[in-house]
Amino acid sequence: MKKILPLKHGLRGTLEIPGDKSVSHRSIMLSSLGTTPVEVTNFLAGADCLSTVACMKALGATIERAGDTVSVTGNGLRGLREPDNVLDAGNSGTTLRLLMGLLAPQKFLTTFTGDDSLRQRPMARVIKPLTEAGATIVGRNANRNLPITILPAASKLRGITYRMPVASAQVKSAILLAGLYADAPTTVIEPAPSRDHTEKMLAAFGARLERSGNAITIFPAEKLTAPEKISVPGDISSAAYWLVLATILDGSDVTIRNVGVNETRTGILDVLKSMGATIELLNERTSGGERAADLRVVSSNLRGVEFGGAIIPRLIDEIPALAVAAAFAEGTTIIRDVAELRVKETDRLAAIVDEFNKISPATFEATDDSLIIHGGREKFFAECKTRADHRMAMSLAIFGAAAQGVALDDDACVKISYPNFFDGLA
Ligand code: S3P
Repeated sequence: MKKILPLKHGLRGTLEIPGDKSVSHRSIMLSSLGTTPVEVTNFLAGADCLSTVACMKALGATIERAGDTVSVTGNGLRGLREPDNVLDAGNSGTTLRLLMGLLAPQKFLTTFTGDDSLRQRPMARVIKPLTEAGATIVGRNANRNLPITILPAASKLRGITYRMPVASAQVKSAILLAGLYADAPTTVIEPAPSRDHTEKMLAAFGARLERSGNAITIFPAEKLTAPEKISVPGDISSAAYWLVLATILDGSDVTIRNVGVNETRTGILDVLKSMGATIELLNERTSGGERAADLRVVSSNLRGVEFGGAIIPRLIDEIPALAVAAAFAEGTTIIRDVAELRVKETDRLAAIVDEFNKISPATFEATDDSLIIHGGREKFFAECKTRADHRMAMSLAIFGAAAQGVALDDDACVKISYPNFFDGLA
C-alpha cells in the first residue's frame, strides 16, 4: 500500500524525466540489426525496455548496460539466430508486436509469452497482416492471444499493401520491420498518423522509406548501417504527469528538461493549451532525428474541452493524466474515439470510471468509445486500485496529490515506464 499525501503548495524548480519508452525499444531493436557498436544514452531502464533487451540478447545481439547507457552490437540484418527458449515480452506490447514483425520473416522458430495483462491483449491485429505477407503464426484463442509461435518462414515474405483498421504504431512498426525482408516494397496505410519513431529511426539506419499522406512504403533492404550513438529524448508520456500536476496546483512554475516533442506525440500539449494551460517550449532542438525541448509550465485555470478523431493517437497514453486535468477544469470535457483504451495494459476506460470516481464521485462516465468528465466536483481521500497498470498508478498518484491524498494498492508497476516516479513526486 502506497500512501500519497495532498500537496500543500505548487511545484517549483527543474525536473529531469527518464528516456522515451518507444525510442528506447527501437534503439535496441534496430542497433541489434547493424554490425557495428552503438552507444545508446538516456535509455529508459524500465521493465518494458529491459524485456526488449532480454529478447534481443536471446536473438544473438551483444548488449551491455550500465545504468541508462547501453552498448549494442548486432550480427547484421540477417544475423538473428533462433532463441533457445520462449521469449518473454513481460508487460510490453511494444516488445511483442514489433518483434513479431521482425521475426515473421526469419527462417527459425520463435515462441512468445508475456505477463497476465499482455496475455489478454489482442494480437490478431499483427498476425493478420503478417499472415497476408506469407508468414505462419499461431496463437492461443484462435490466433488472437499469447502464447504465440512464429514458424520458420519457408520463403521470403511478400511485399503487401495493408490498410490498418486502427491507428496503431505497434502494428505499423511490425509491418514495416517485416517489410525490410520482403520480396517487394510494403505499404501500410494508417487511418490517422500514429507515432513515427520507427520510420525516423529506420531512415537513420539507412533504410528507404517514403510517406505519401497516411501511406508509408518501406523498400526491402540488404543491410542496415548503425549510427555510433543514439541519444534518447525524455518521454513526453512521463512528463505528462508533471505537466498536469503543475497546471492544476496553484503557485507552480516548473521546467521539465529534454522532453521529446515529436509532432506525433504532442497531442497532450495541444489539448492542455486549449484547456487554458500555460506551457512554453524552450531550447527547441533536434537530436538523433527526434525533436526535443525544455517545457516550462506554470499553474493555470482550466476549462472543459471536447476532442477526438485524429488527435487521439497523438496522446493515447496521456488520457488518464488528461482525465485528471479535466476533473479540475470548469465545465465538462468529452473525449471521443478512445475505444483503444479498452485494450491497453488494462481496460483504462473502465479503470478510470471505477477508480477515479472514488476520489471525485460522479465525475467520470464512459461509453463504448468515449470518456466524459464533469469538472469541478468535490474530491476526497480514497483507497484505489492501480490494476497493475503503470499509467493508472501515476495518474492516481497525481490525482490524490492534487486532491485529498490517495492510497494505492500497488506502486511497483511504475517500474514499467518510470522507475523513479515516486522520487520525482517526493
Ligand atoms: C507504442 C504505441 C502505442 C502506445 C504504446 C507504445 C509504441 O500503442 O500506446 O504505449 O511504442 O509503438 P499502439 O500502437 O497499440 O496504439
